[in-house]
Amino acid sequence: MEDFLPEDEPLLNARRHGEEVGATPIGPAGGAALRFLATLIGARTVVEVGSGCGVSGICLLRGMAKDAVLTSVDVEPEHQRLAKHAYAEAGLGASRTRMIIGRALEVLPRLTDGAYDMVFCDAVEQEYPEYLTAALRLLRPGGVVAFDNALWHHRVADPDRRDPDTEAVREVGRMIREDERLVPLLIPVGDGLLCAVKRD
Ligand SMILES: C[S@@+](CC[C@H](N)C(=O)[O-])C[C@H]1O[C@@H](n2cnc3c(N)ncnc32)[C@H](O)[C@@H]1O
Repeated sequence: MEDFLPEDEPLLNARRHGEEVGATPIGPAGGAALRFLATLIGARTVVEVGSGCGVSGICLLRGMAKDAVLTSVDVEPEHQRLAKHAYAEAGLGASRTRMIIGRALEVLPRLTDGAYDMVFCDAVEQEYPEYLTAALRLLRPGGVVAFDNALWHHRVADPDRRDPDTEAVREVGRMIREDERLVPLLIPVGDGLLCAVKRD
């Protein structure tokens, strides 16, 4: 499943950089799912929480409209430097991205309500519930929110695992399942991609 759509050179290089600096990239099938979702909804404005070294950003940008802009947030300047390098290597011009260096929970409140087609979250697991709250504010009706690592290395399904990261990922799953404004879907690619559409 992970090998169904082989990655090209820019993605493989970005993946290698991400692994080297400890900004673990989304898996190949998860990246393909992001591109698919961005294409499906005709995404023109996407927020990414956790740029890493650019794997998920390339996938999102490849699914978005040709002149659409990805707003990507990361606390580590070096990760964003490598992400920008990856976008350029993939032929994605600087005008396609708005790179913001900062902590997600400080940056997200500054972004405009209802202005985004998609929000992808892949930074701090313990902050996932807060990212969901922010995403619900940022998304237009019909917009999509997605979380990587929704299975959290099979810990979410193990009732004996009660550490803060696992509890937070479990909590965001519960919030998404129970929120009547959302249409949820857990896609079992990689470490799990939890998605939801915000109803009209
Ligand atoms: C799992 S990596 C992201 C991988 C990336 N989405 C990809 O697929 O290539 C997580 C990233 O979140 C960033 N990060 C950690 N804490 C953060 C915070 N509080 N706010 C924003 N970004 C943060 C890290 O610097 C790291 O680059």
